[in-house]
Amino acid sequence: MTTKCNTVKILKILLVTCLTLVTLQYVINLVAYSYVSRFFGMELMFQRNISIVQYLPIFGKQSKSSSSFNKSVTVIPPVISTVKNLFPSNTSQINTSNINQSSTPAFISPNISLLTSKEPIRNESLPLCPLVPPKLVGPLATFTNAISFEEILKNNPDLQPGGRYKPKDCVARHKVAIIIPYRDRITHLQILLQNLHPILARQLIDYGIYVVDMTLPTSFNRAMLMNIGFAEALKIYDYQCFIFHDVDLIPENDRNLYTCPESPRHMSVAVDKFKYRLPYASIFGGVSALTKEQFLKINGYSNLYFGWGGEDDDMNGRIHRKGYKVIRYSVDVARYKMIKHTREKSNPVNPKRYKLINTGKNRQDKDGINSLKYKVEKIEFLPTYTYILTTINQTEVEAG
Ligand SMILES: *[C@@H]1O[C@H](CO)[C@@H](O)[C@H](O)[C@H]1NC(C)=O
Ligand SMILES: *[C@@H]1O[C@H](CO)[C@@H](O)[C@H](O)[C@H]1NC(C)=O
Ligand SMILES: *[C@@H]1O[C@H](CO)[C@@H](O)[C@H](O)[C@H]1NC(C)=O
Ligand SMILES: *[C@@H]1O[C@H](CO)[C@@H](O)[C@H](O)[C@H]1NC(C)=O
Ligand SMILES: *[C@@H]1O[C@H](CO)[C@@H](O)[C@H](O)[C@H]1NC(C)=O
Ligand SMILES: *[C@@H]1O[C@H](CO)[C@@H](O)[C@H](O)[C@H]1NC(C)=O
Ligand SMILES: *[C@@H]1O[C@H](CO)[C@@H](O)[C@H](O)[C@H]1NC(C)=O
Ligand SMILES: *[C@@H]1O[C@H](CO)[C@@H](O)[C@H](O)[C@H]1NC(C)=O
Repeated sequence: MTTKCNTVKILKILLVTCLTLVTLQYVINLVAYSYVSRFFGMELMFQRNISIVQYLPIFGKQSKSSSSFNKSVTVIPPVISTVKNLFPSNTSQINTSNINQSSTPAFISPNISLLTSKEPIRNESLPLCPLVPPKLVGPLATFTNAISFEEILKNNPDLQPGGRYKPKDCVARHKVAIIIPYRDRITHLQILLQNLHPILARQLIDYGIYVVDMTLPTSFNRAMLMNIGFAEALKIYDYQCFIFHDVDLIPENDRNLYTCPESPRHMSVAVDKFKYRLPYASIFGGVSALTKEQFLKINGYSNLYFGWGGEDDDMNGRIHRKGYKVIRYSVDVARYKMIKHTREKSNPVNPKRYKLINTGKNRQDKDGINSLKYKVEKIEFLPTYTYILTTINQTEVEAG
């Protein structure tokens, strides 16, 4: 009687120990994984010169069917356009004399209520563009030698000042601003524009290209330049979709549509530098797409990331905290080539990035598009892009 009782007891203890160990292993792996992915993804790739950061579990084997690495990657088919994405466009041209900013030297904040005001939908006699653009070709040979902006214009004769374009024979379904944070990379810009303009035209998009620069000596603030590009582009035209685009990434497939689906989309999924694989699961850098509403709801990017690193991981947190999920097209379509370069002196690694990421949650609603302060030095409507030069006062931005 007592031995039987003891056996049951021992079995119970064994069972509990077993369960505890399994749970513990799972928790440790999960924590370690998110730590690797969140804090060391990009770091490791650049510092150790490796192309992929794949977390291997500390305990146990990596499951073959669903590794934690691939878990948060949602892949959707390349073409999903719904009625929600129909935005009849306005045929009027931009009137550059209305947007001469050089007469407003003070640091300005955008008027959020103006950004959120809805444009009335206008009637147009042209038909809507087809849901699936008929002239897409799929995988492309990329041009990787810089040519002059004059030649780019010659190759894309339908461009309007400021690098604007809209389809001639139909009303575009998407009004898209391409925002390119920029400093001193003129040949990269030439290569990108030479590749990008024909693709966007084939995709039948009503678009404009905004290259946002900041004056020296302030450290580069990529995130803030993207916020500024968003605010300034909306002053120029009724854009509904924003693509935030690194200057050194060249799309390799024109079925990678430059439009905004229902969820924020990470577009540069497969980059040659990273062997065409997603470097780490929570990555949101490179090229990404958000609608105007999504961007305003998450309050844009944080303004506090001066120097290299962290701003995209912060953005990933912002997106998830507001209930969105990041989606991605398949690696066959969302492919990019990265132009080789070395890191600039004016863009040093930001030593505060981890601290900022960790405290991002508390700042989200007060640090972003609603606290943006900058000075526009000039806006130039150049033949193949709009150039926006700004000055950022780091002291003022960090003081809040
Ligand atoms: C990084 O890797 C590339 C390709 O594998 C190699 O050509 C290059 O020399 C490496 N750089 C360093 C600093 O190790
Ligand atoms: C995870 O992603 C990598 C890179 O795309 C792929 O090679 C691998 O098969 C994926 N694993 C699973 C389990 O889906
Ligand atoms: C542009 O705007 C200015 C000032 O509002 C106006 O005087 C001018 O006629 C406009 N030009 C065109 C082409 O509409
Ligand atoms: C813009 O403003 C500057 C300074 O106020 C002036 O010199 C320039 O002529 C203006 N440009 C246009 C197109 O109005
Ligand atoms: C912002 O725009 C709204 C609508 O035009 C206006 O009523 C409000 O006064 C503006 N606010 C500021 C601070 O300019
Ligand atoms: C647009 O205008 C045309 C002609 O003025 C009219 O026939 C058509 O019904 C209008 N369409 C819409 C959606 O209002
Ligand atoms: C749309 O066109 C009308 C004139 O056709 C013009 O008054 C208005 O400013 C334009 N709006 C935008 C956002 O371009
Ligand atoms: C930046 O702002 C601070 C605080 O407002 C001010 O003291 C400083 O002079 C400004 N710097 C520049 C370069 O304008």
